[in-house]
Amino acid sequence: MKILLIGSGGREHAIAWKLKQSAEPVTLFIAPGNAGMSALGRCVDIAVDNIDGLVRFASDNAIDLTVVGPELPLVLGVVDAFEAKGLKIIGPNRYAAQFEGSKDFTKAFLMRHNIPTAAYDTFTTLDEAIAALDRFGFPVVVKADGLAAGKGVIIAQNHEEAEKAVREMMADKVFGEAGSRIVLEAFLTGIEASILCFVDGKTILPMSPAQDYKRAFDDDKGLNTGGMGTYSPSRVIDDAMMKRIDDELLQPFLKGIQAEEITFKGVLFVGVMIKGDDIKVLEYNVRLGDPETEVTLPRMENDLVEIFEAMLEERLSEITLTWRPENAVCVILASGGYPEKYAKGYPITGLEDALKTPGLVDVFHCGTKQSGEAVLTNGGRVLGVTALGKTIDEARQNAYAATEKIRFEGAFFRKDIGIVRGH
Ligand code: AMP
Ligand code: GLY
Repeated sequence: MKILLIGSGGREHAIAWKLKQSAEPVTLFIAPGNAGMSALGRCVDIAVDNIDGLVRFASDNAIDLTVVGPELPLVLGVVDAFEAKGLKIIGPNRYAAQFEGSKDFTKAFLMRHNIPTAAYDTFTTLDEAIAALDRFGFPVVVKADGLAAGKGVIIAQNHEEAEKAVREMMADKVFGEAGSRIVLEAFLTGIEASILCFVDGKTILPMSPAQDYKRAFDDDKGLNTGGMGTYSPSRVIDDAMMKRIDDELLQPFLKGIQAEEITFKGVLFVGVMIKGDDIKVLEYNVRLGDPETEVTLPRMENDLVEIFEAMLEERLSEITLTWRPENAVCVILASGGYPEKYAKGYPITGLEDALKTPGLVDVFHCGTKQSGEAVLTNGGRVLGVTALGKTIDEARQNAYAATEKIRFEGAFFRKDIGIVRGH
């Protein structure tokens, strides 16, 4: 079976790693891929937003199935473009991708279907947004409506910070058109969890929940990032909580899309905020999480190709997900300066040594580039080191033993991934 995988990060490396374990032999093409993935498939130099180029490649090479990693091509309508040519592809179409591509679309949907979420309002003019700021109290959350590469959410502590954020988004257009509409939202406290679900429109099938460490530094200090590490299974969500999440958040989503005749085949990532008995949806994403995928797929026993085929044929109800009993921990090695400015192009050493660490699953490449024999840093998040262990402490030890063998100029990582203290 010929599969085209779109993306170039740690999430896609973990998807590639899992696809290669399918019962059916898989020939993999990855657009554009990275240095780590080239061992698993052929990297083809097509950017994730080059929708025409991706369609052409899939038609010319008789690709049987395309899997989309990141949100950008989904929001740009890659699924619609493939389906128009009769090509099979996994992911929500352009309309459904608004669950990630527009905060206002999602908030209005949550309200229509009585799914618990933070109070909010949407604004299209600067004056109205500024006039409304004090209504929410502080901190207030200021969100650019559209995609902003994970940077469009500002938690403003006071009126001054909030006004600055609103002006930057709406007047200075720091996120381009994504900020021409903004959402103001009440600030929620609690513990966040990532619930990744396979969805085929008839069934919503949650995976074993993962915990993501979003802040840059230990003890949740520093700026928000795409995620500095993860562990699975979650110790915040027990079976009783998972049942409530299913009843109160996931099934209402499914009923909502059915009632509105929204076609959704792909992965729904539900960001949940939990505080005591209170559970609320923070956000939806329309793809697997990164680095949630790097701890989720290594624990999943099912065949991923079988799941994707079931999803396309609306047979997800026939699938029961099963999970390895071990704990998984993923530690992200990042470039000095991330999530703000950082340099690229530093050689990475110690990878082969790290791969020999007991308990290691793999060193997933997030932002790397091959240059002759050398592997160079090529992003803010560079590598995701995933290990398994019978206990979470053992998984932590294995992951850190491997992480410490890897070196590059300016590298940093959190030391507390897998430590549970109400992060
Ligand atoms: P979003 O892009 O909507 O997922 O927001 C990114 C991150 O901002 C979330 O993962 C949370 O950590 C934080 N966040 C978003 N909305 C809120 C909120 N209403 N209250 C507190 N934190 C929030
Ligand atoms: N780790 C959070 C995300 O993938 O959006």
